[in-house]
Amino acid sequence: MTYTTSWRSPSNIALIKYWGKHSLQLPRNPSVSFTLSVCHTTMTLSVTPNADQPGVQVKYDGQPKPSFEPKINTFLSMMKDRFLWLADAAIEIDSHNSFPHGAGIASSASAMSALALCLMDVNDQVTANIADHDELWWQNISEIARIGSGSACRSVFPVISIWGETPVAKESNDLFAIPWEHQLAPVFKDYCDAILIVSSEEKAVSSSAGHKLMDTLPYAETRYREAFQNIESLCKSLQVENELGQFISIVESEALQLHALMMSGKDPYILMEPGTLSIIKEVWRFRKASGIPVCFTLDAGPNVHLLYPSTYAAPILDWINNNLSPYCAEGRYILDRVGSGPEKII
Ligand code: DP6
Repeated sequence: MTYTTSWRSPSNIALIKYWGKHSLQLPRNPSVSFTLSVCHTTMTLSVTPNADQPGVQVKYDGQPKPSFEPKINTFLSMMKDRFLWLADAAIEIDSHNSFPHGAGIASSASAMSALALCLMDVNDQVTANIADHDELWWQNISEIARIGSGSACRSVFPVISIWGETPVAKESNDLFAIPWEHQLAPVFKDYCDAILIVSSEEKAVSSSAGHKLMDTLPYAETRYREAFQNIESLCKSLQVENELGQFISIVESEALQLHALMMSGKDPYILMEPGTLSIIKEVWRFRKASGIPVCFTLDAGPNVHLLYPSTYAAPILDWINNNLSPYCAEGRYILDRVGSGPEKII
């Protein structure tokens, strides 16, 4: 008997950054992110338990991708206690990203959350569980995704998620993310994220190496304290309609801190490119001149995420085309926005 399922799961962009971890992907500080919509992974998982030839085959866009197998194998072996049928199963994974390979967009959040969804879905089939997908089901998905890649645990919920214990949300904890959409002011529920592709090169440094660097930094404890304070202030501003000043100042400070931390180790690295800095300066100039409340954030890479209310979509698009696309690799950008979370395909 072969069980098959297919899920689409989105990427997410952190407003308060997860940077520093311990144990099995547990965060040193709480983080909060917008769930995206256009950037996502679609994954199909086929599982044949008790197979004659157990093993894992990973494909990308229908083509064998053996280079993905070690990471997936390590993850699946950590799941064997949870899903006993994994032990002697033949497993086929085929995934596809909506965003172009080499766009410098991290795919681990969308891919690992898609894999967590597929595993839980197959588990329902194998164990003939026909119960509704309740809160606990989604918590399990988020926890499994976290073990695959920390930030993936936040991709599971619509619009916005909080991961890591913080007084801001009573149920928040380090094991899995929680949804927070119900607290959000309307302006943020369809917030836009234009992703400017400054460089399409592969990541120079893995996130795991970046998290490790935090263990050696004398500023680490100060950073974690700051993140705890920032999430409290940011979540207050996320509950207020059209009062974006505090939101902008915290989001941009978090992005710059992330990169400042990477630059301040004994083996420092700089992931911004000249184009990244030019865009940041242009954001500051344009915001002052136009009064449009657009701000930027960064991942662990050179690309810039522009965040703005959907009412400003038209002038922002003109501005991107006229002033910012020259800083983008082949003029490329992706117009993404806050989205409604994962979706089952079959
Ligand atoms: C800068 O989730 O990619 O994007 O847990 O080692 O897989 P691992 O790291 P990962 O780290 C993401 C770091 C970040 C900030 C964030 O998304 O919060």
